[in-house]
Amino acid sequence: MLKPIKLSNKNFLSNLDITANEVNHILELSKGFKNNSLKLDYGNKVLGLIFDKSSTRTRVSFQVAMSRLGGSTIDLNPNTSQIGRGEPIKDTARVLSSYCDILAIRTFKQCDLEEYANWSTKPVINALTDLEHPCQALADFFTIKEEFHDFRNVVLTFIGDGNNVANSLILCGALLGVEVRIASPKGFEPNSSVIEKALKIYKNKNLLKITNDPYTAVPGSNVLYTDVWSSMGEEDKKNQKDKLFNGFTIDKDLLGVAEKDVIVLHCLPAYRNKEITDEIIDSKKSRIFEQAENRLYAQQALLSCLL
Ligand code: CP
Ligand code: NVA
Repeated sequence: MLKPIKLSNKNFLSNLDITANEVNHILELSKGFKNNSLKLDYGNKVLGLIFDKSSTRTRVSFQVAMSRLGGSTIDLNPNTSQIGRGEPIKDTARVLSSYCDILAIRTFKQCDLEEYANWSTKPVINALTDLEHPCQALADFFTIKEEFHDFRNVVLTFIGDGNNVANSLILCGALLGVEVRIASPKGFEPNSSVIEKALKIYKNKNLLKITNDPYTAVPGSNVLYTDVWSSMGEEDKKNQKDKLFNGFTIDKDLLGVAEKDVIVLHCLPAYRNKEITDEIIDSKKSRIFEQAENRLYAQQALLSCLL
């Protein structure tokens, strides 16, 4: 019978904290949670959520996941806790990990997340940083697997800003051996150390392609993926980035040059008619709302391997 195995690392700060086998195991567990063949009870375990940035999907899917696993969550708002006052991370981490069994943290700098993890006595999960969004990538590859059954011959093309979501798709894609193409405007390519790490993992280095032209990237693609052009914390750059990203919208024309079986993903929240047209989000090709739902099962799977 399918049962969660303990992950080799205590924390999940990056997709690279887990092995390819562990990713595949999490995807199998996600399927078990989705089709109700897997039911587990973690008694009274408590997940602490620290969100320095807004969230709908990640916060709520963690809360529901934990409650379905028989546990509960505490949502720590920085403004009503001492976090907002600037209490040192190392003090917060030591105290919260003495109450909670696991922590999920959404913050800006990856190094702050690492500081939490260094001082926490309990596992820490990355619920999004400026650099990575590894929980999102687990749900994304689960959604892709549901559609195509395996990853052989799948080409995943991300159109847009090469930051957290794109970085995580690259790293998780490298672990799974999936061809990942990224089309970003000049200056918005994915993080160079992420590319370097991914290339060390890919057996076939040609499976990672970075370009500045969506129309070069999309032909042959089975999955088109996009994210907002201005991420949380970049609100002041919105007007400037809207201009720089002109031409990077997933619309009918761009979709038309992809493979016939193409599906479209977006991590959400979206700015409709900016990075993706209304028409495409709501089209038959969209798996965006299945993808959002799958966050729940991927979260249950991840928690079950860390608790
Ligand atoms: N995709 C995602 O992480 O959404 P939230 O910001 O709503 O959590
Ligand atoms: N890149 C986006 C992802 C939101 C889920 C952001 O960081 O705001």
